[in-house]
Amino acid sequence: MSIPVIVDCDPGHDDVFALWFAAGHPSLELIAVTTVGGNVPLAHTSRNARIALTVAGVHDVPVSAGAAGPLSRTLATAEWIHGENGLGGPVLPEPTVPLDPRSATELIADKLRAAAEPVAIIATGPVTNIAVLLRDRPELADRIREIVWMGGSTERGNVTPYAEFNAWVDPEALALVVASGIRFTMVGLNVTHRALVTSAVRARLAAVGNRTARFGDELLEFFCRTNDEVFGMPDGPLHDPVAVAVLADPASVGLVHTRLDVELAGAETAGATSVDLDGMLRREPNAWVATSLDVDGFWAGVEASVARLA
Ligand code: BDR
Ligand code: CA
Repeated sequence: MSIPVIVDCDPGHDDVFALWFAAGHPSLELIAVTTVGGNVPLAHTSRNARIALTVAGVHDVPVSAGAAGPLSRTLATAEWIHGENGLGGPVLPEPTVPLDPRSATELIADKLRAAAEPVAIIATGPVTNIAVLLRDRPELADRIREIVWMGGSTERGNVTPYAEFNAWVDPEALALVVASGIRFTMVGLNVTHRALVTSAVRARLAAVGNRTARFGDELLEFFCRTNDEVFGMPDGPLHDPVAVAVLADPASVGLVHTRLDVELAGAETAGATSVDLDGMLRREPNAWVATSLDVDGFWAGVEASVARLA
């Protein structure tokens, strides 16, 4: 039995690998892809999601565009990591996967209603679309099995000292989603910084040898270079697929049930995720938070998914 999943994303190099990991994994049934403004503006993230599926030969999964920007803030983007078009590196093919005319929330709502069982949502960008869905169609909440999100950190940030990018772009959306009561798992930088694209990992993925792997290697070349330039991390951390691993290979990601709060007002700390691992606040746990990763098992899963694609 596979888990029906929707991936809500802002591709982005690592989002592309998350899409491939989900599309190629036998435990998951990718039933829709939705996009949000994040790493780059919405027009690029939507086109890039279609390119990711086109390259991988995935033609039966609808892709639709969602929110262009956060609930109440101005969109901030990350071209310095992902390039002007969001997928710096390879020459991008014209996508043959079409853009679905429905909005992201319409597509998600249709899929939730039609599914025989509750659907999991994997979010790898700012969670604006999910917040809009839960705000406008709360009756659909019980059709969502769980939400697994790449973002936040139990430690420090990557866009301000204490905020991770996906949390920082739309913290109001994140707070709304966490407060929904739907099972929520945060996969933050504290764990994704272990998913490093070392030269051995690059060689292993490239050796898969199919079209997806070749395109992926060009993405990783660029991604590692910009991570080196910006963060001094030549083995770039491939954040987003780690969120997919939580569902695809639950044994590979260690989780703790704890208290997650989101800083909305801090002058220096807006978008910071406060994770009360030691129970200091004595508040009810409201989230699962990733704290460990079986790095070899993770890469083996990504590799096997890529190998199942075109
Ligand atoms: C997150 O921000 C984006 O740049 C990546 O795609 C990832 O989702 C990492 O902070
Ligand atoms: Ca992302």
